[in-house]
Amino acid sequence: MFRFPRHEFIERNATLLLILSLVVVTIGGIVEIAPLFYLQNTIEKVEGMRPYAPLELAGRNIYIREGCYLCHSQMIRPFRDEVERYGHYSLAAESMYDHPFQWGSKRTGPDLARVGGRYSDEWHRDHLIDPRSVVPESIMPGYPFLLETELTGKDMASHLRANANVGVPYTDDMIASALTDFLVQANPDAGDVEAFQKRYPKAETRDFDGQPGRVTEMDALIAYLQMLGTLVDFNAYKAETNLR
Ligand code: HEC
Repeated sequence: MFRFPRHEFIERNATLLLILSLVVVTIGGIVEIAPLFYLQNTIEKVEGMRPYAPLELAGRNIYIREGCYLCHSQMIRPFRDEVERYGHYSLAAESMYDHPFQWGSKRTGPDLARVGGRYSDEWHRDHLIDPRSVVPESIMPGYPFLLETELTGKDMASHLRANANVGVPYTDDMIASALTDFLVQANPDAGDVEAFQKRYPKAETRDFDGQPGRVTEMDALIAYLQMLGTLVDFNAYKAETNLR
């Protein structure tokens, strides 16, 4: 039988084996990790990503507070069945302003990464008040209190500032207008819609919860759900990267 005594020597020498194993693992690690620091495209550049508008950010905070992520993911994986069901797979850039990201680790309900625009505001309101009124077999809990809890938006400037501190490109102008932007998105008559949409392109302004004159947690959460996955223009993205 062929014997390779030098290898036997390594295997019988525990310390040497450990040191050499570490060397091998280190080389493997460097080869895998180091290029990520030099690649320009670890996060691909895509048109259309912008920070959340204040009302949407308030909705996102409610999403986190209520633990929606325990049952819903926001991460469409690049598999055919997922892409056919939910739409284009998620890009890293789409969660680059998320602190913390909401990819989730469990799907008791469907993925929500591209739920924006799929249903009407009324559907969302009915569904969040009592899911079984629109999906009889649903096991999702109801959140009727969202419709009762009013929001003043007074704390939004601090939320924007906190996000700016961790790298979200909110400008001083955006932080200064946080409260008016918050109110304008839920009620287009409350201020300058054009200036708002210049700061937050594609942001939709309307009464989301069916109660004009009141801004509630329901307004904020529906504004957030309706914009999920709608910012990136995938036709432009595909043309640029030649993706299918
Ligand atoms: C206990 C698990 C659970 C929790 C918690 C939960 N959901 Fe759901 N959700 C589901 C299930 C199951 C469905 C599928 C049935 C249905 O449409 O109601 C669903 C469906 C949905 C849909 C429709 C998605 C689609 O593409 O049809 C939306 C939107 C949604 N949930 C939002 C939320 C939000 C917002 C929260 C937090 C306030 C939340 N869910 C909390 C289980 C959950």
